[in-house]
Amino acid sequence: MRKFIIDTDTGSDDAIALLMALADKEIEVLALTTVFGNVCLKQATRNALISCEFAGVNIPVYPGMDRPLVRERIEAIHVHGSDGLGDAGILDPKLKAQSKHAVSALIDLISEHDDVELITLGPLTNVALAMRKAPEVLKCLKKITCMGGAQLGYAAETEVAEFNILADPEAAKIVFEFGVPLVMVPLEVCLNGDGREGAETILNENDLMSIQAIDTLKSDFLLKISSSLLKFHEIYYGDVGLELPDPCAVAVALRPDLILHAYTANVSVDISGSLSYGQTVVNTKGGTVLEDQIYVANVTIVSALDGRGFKSMIEEAVR
Ligand code: RIB
Ligand code: CA
Repeated sequence: MRKFIIDTDTGSDDAIALLMALADKEIEVLALTTVFGNVCLKQATRNALISCEFAGVNIPVYPGMDRPLVRERIEAIHVHGSDGLGDAGILDPKLKAQSKHAVSALIDLISEHDDVELITLGPLTNVALAMRKAPEVLKCLKKITCMGGAQLGYAAETEVAEFNILADPEAAKIVFEFGVPLVMVPLEVCLNGDGREGAETILNENDLMSIQAIDTLKSDFLLKISSSLLKFHEIYYGDVGLELPDPCAVAVALRPDLILHAYTANVSVDISGSLSYGQTVVNTKGGTVLEDQIYVANVTIVSALDGRGFKSMIEEAVR
């Protein structure tokens, strides 16, 4: 059975992604590790515990870093609401978080289990520190599937940088250059990807009505916590739509057969601190104009995901 750890800054799309992963009986989610990001660490941990309760699963949740390595902390409450779950009045969880720190938990779990796969849904601070603290252990990771990065024009937080990377560019640089197989699921994948036929991942009004018709506690939870995302989409695009970046990353990790297109590239993270701070700079051209630069394809980038299969995974997760 495939074994996963999920690192999350639990906002509304993370919560839906967690429902998807925790509903899949073909895999084992060993633990969740939480990190600052959409909201503060305390809120992200609360929201991760709430997600476990709605999923009907009691797995260890380990709180991690509450701030980035170098830059000041940013957050995305303008997108997810002040509580990170759409300010929908979701009650506090009964489940409690573990006292062990997420960085130690990552190291211990990866050393105790073979072939662990890591899914990252937030800033990469916990993962980067685990890599720095125990590189030989983290090298045993089978794969990292990272929701993060964007191609030019798709980035949300600045013109060139996606939130998870921008929130801790130095951590992202450590993780992207570490050498474990890394699959990057950039922001555009949840925005219908590269536009090819069948890559429609944005949930439209009909998709939302199908979820509403499922009429379970989980489907109701999904719609309630998505209220801020829906408002944000309407302001940004002027219509009804729900883009779900973290669920796309979980779909890629659990169901790689749903990937319509992916390519390998060299990806570096800009930590210059200038206008392009946090940009994921993608080089697919092999060599460079500087003869002595060596081209290393360190990342597989997903550019299109099967929209119908993706939406079915979400519906199954809340049924
Ligand atoms: O840019 C989208 C990413 O930032 C998602 O993971 C979302 O939850 C936020 O963390
Ligand atoms: Ca997230």
